[in-house]
Amino acid sequence: MSATAEMPYFIKPSQNLSGPEKRTAYAEARAAILATIGDEQDETVKMVTINCLLKTYLPYYYWVGFYLVRGENQLVVGPYQGTLGCLYIEFGRGVCGTVAASGVTKIVDDAHALKQGTEHIACDPNSRSEIVVPVRRADGSLMGVFDVDSTLKASFDQVDQEELEQLLIAVFTKA
Ligand code: SME
Repeated sequence: MSATAEMPYFIKPSQNLSGPEKRTAYAEARAAILATIGDEQDETVKMVTINCLLKTYLPYYYWVGFYLVRGENQLVVGPYQGTLGCLYIEFGRGVCGTVAASGVTKIVDDAHALKQGTEHIACDPNSRSEIVVPVRRADGSLMGVFDVDSTLKASFDQVDQEELEQLLIAVFTKA
């Protein structure tokens, strides 16, 4: 797949960061997120705050958002920032569906190299690399998955995985 779509005026292409730059940006974003949500219990309030502040502090976040479990084997799009997201994704399909089924974080260096429609679902051809993290509640139940796309290859690595897994546990499993 090679097509690219014109980006809307309000969206900028990604700019990658080094490991140390990422650690600094995540520390600032995490502090702002935890300060903003305080003892908030509403999941939607938490999700929209996370999307906004991570996209503010991390310049390679092109698309950022949540897909939420609906029924047995389906994900439905939740709060997000970016270009139009796909509405429904089946468990086992695409990167989001695969993570929902396995419960394990997945990093994709080049989405265009994956089988479209099965291994990857292209909601926007500008998305080039991706990380998807499972999101659980305090009782261990799967709330959904957290998905971030970049317009550049290989924007995500171990630093993103560690920081995002810790942040999502801190926000969604605290009583
Ligand atoms: N690319 C994802 C679908 C969601 S979009 O990135 C917003 C996937 O393959 O599951």
